[in-house]
Amino acid sequence: MRLTGRAPRPSWVGLLTASFMGLQAVGAVELNLDDDLSIKKASKQVATNMMSYYTGMNPGDNPGNLPDPYYWWEAGAMFGALVDYWFFTGDTQWNNITIQGMLWQAGDNGAFMPSNQSKTEGNDDQAFWGFAAMSAAERNFPNPPADKPQWLEMAQAVFNTQASRWDPGTCGGGLRWQIFTWNNGYSYKNTISTGGFFNIASRLYKYTGNQTYADWAEKAWDWTKQVGFMTDTYHFWDGASDLTGCKDMNKIEWTYNTGVYLLGAASMYNATEDPKWKYRVQQVLNASDVFFATNPVNVMYERACETVNTCMVDQRSFKGYLARWMAATTQMAPFTYDQIMPKLRATAEAAAKSCTGGSEGTTCGLKWTEQKWDNTKDFGQQMASLDVIQANLITHVAPPVTSHDGGTSKGNPDAGGKPKEPMPKALSFSITTADKAGAGILTAMTMVMIGGSCGWLIWD
Ligand SMILES: *[C@@H]1O[C@H](CO)[C@@H](O)[C@H](O)[C@H]1NC(C)=O
Ligand SMILES: *[C@@H]1O[C@H](CO)[C@@H](O)[C@H](O)[C@H]1NC(C)=O
Ligand SMILES: *[C@@H]1O[C@H](CO)[C@@H](O)[C@H](O)[C@H]1NC(C)=O
Ligand SMILES: *[C@@H]1O[C@H](CO)[C@@H](O)[C@H](O)[C@H]1NC(C)=O
Ligand SMILES: *[C@@H]1O[C@H](CO)[C@@H](O)[C@H](O)[C@H]1NC(C)=O
Repeated sequence: MRLTGRAPRPSWVGLLTASFMGLQAVGAVELNLDDDLSIKKASKQVATNMMSYYTGMNPGDNPGNLPDPYYWWEAGAMFGALVDYWFFTGDTQWNNITIQGMLWQAGDNGAFMPSNQSKTEGNDDQAFWGFAAMSAAERNFPNPPADKPQWLEMAQAVFNTQASRWDPGTCGGGLRWQIFTWNNGYSYKNTISTGGFFNIASRLYKYTGNQTYADWAEKAWDWTKQVGFMTDTYHFWDGASDLTGCKDMNKIEWTYNTGVYLLGAASMYNATEDPKWKYRVQQVLNASDVFFATNPVNVMYERACETVNTCMVDQRSFKGYLARWMAATTQMAPFTYDQIMPKLRATAEAAAKSCTGGSEGTTCGLKWTEQKWDNTKDFGQQMASLDVIQANLITHVAPPVTSHDGGTSKGNPDAGGKPKEPMPKALSFSITTADKAGAGILTAMTMVMIGGSCGWLIWD
């Protein structure tokens, strides 16, 4: 995500929509949390509005991308929300779109490293697609055609490519924010990248039982603590530059960092039943209290930016991830249920009250604590509202499957490597398109050499 390095996208979205302020909403999202049908209906309304941003399924459009100003990773997050949506509600409306978009972006080796993204793709961005794939495996989402990469395989491909980037050369380990050396932010080690890897490793361990994943999860957790990105009181800072040994930390606290470690720890607890992990889950959960208001009580807010009106485009979606991972935590660590549900309920109610904007009266605001529409619209805040509303269905759905307990997704522990025999195709590519591509070829060839595992896509 875009805290440092890359030029931030302006948060003009909110300003722009101020001009719609006078518009009278025709509807509103009604929500009765004690009635499943009501939660499903509200989820559908909010999801429909969210999907109005997405055009990737249209002929000639690009599956798995959202239009400007939304970065590629956020589409991965969207497919994660849609997997949950299908599982929680039973509504298959967006399943095909999800399968199409994820397969398109996963590429032949399933690792979600399309060459189109090589100018910006960070480990955290890749992880958000990995989360969607992992959820699809855990929920037995309809499997892709047999000749395509499978959900579990994709999550493993993300894991494998990231494990190979683990970098003990500076700060004692961790993942860099950026994947490619030429991108701004390569020298930044950040919590969401390491946390994303931790989250996927722990869930892969729960799903497959393969000890390698558990070892990596332990390692990622320990490093996060050692380097100080996780404090002694289980708060999470954003990250630090490795040029100064990760000493000078960016002490900004985001909801999604807490969420990504919470579910990872809960998955480790579920798989190991080790009291150490139970303790960690409890501590991270208690520390998450800072993201919940006292008035209105238990309503989530992004304290780093909402109160000062500085939430950038990416950040407008973050609360949704804490909500979805808290919900998933109640299944992996049921002892947290009584502590988490009042928060998901109060937050969902407040979020729904914020969804009265736009011509349909289903556009959700950013600041749920206001309990009314705050005159802004944005894809991410719409997705976050969906996340927290549908999270309240968690009580009524089965826990994740595993490979020895109902899971049907096929894995491949070695996923993420290069495809076989890429050279002939590469040659034909450069011959047929050399004229038009011009300098692009040079960049492409450089990438093949430097990028290694990402080079494969150039041959598509
Ligand atoms: C989804 O795709 C399958 C296979 O292509 C097709 O049979 C089905 O009708 C599609 N469903 C929807 C809702 O579009
Ligand atoms: C990459 O960009 C090209 C050109 O816009 C597009 O045709 C292609 O579908 C994109 N690939 C992916 C994986 O998005
Ligand atoms: C965590 O929070 C719960 C609920 O607020 C509280 O009862 C408990 O004592 C806290 N535990 C720790 C270890 O702080
Ligand atoms: C692990 O998850 C399952 C499914 O939700 C649950 O029944 C079980 O109690 C969990 N294990 C622990 C140790 O909480
Ligand atoms: C466990 O995972 C590791 C790492 O991906 C892999 O090398 C190994 O083959 C896996 N073991 C089994 C039994 O699948």
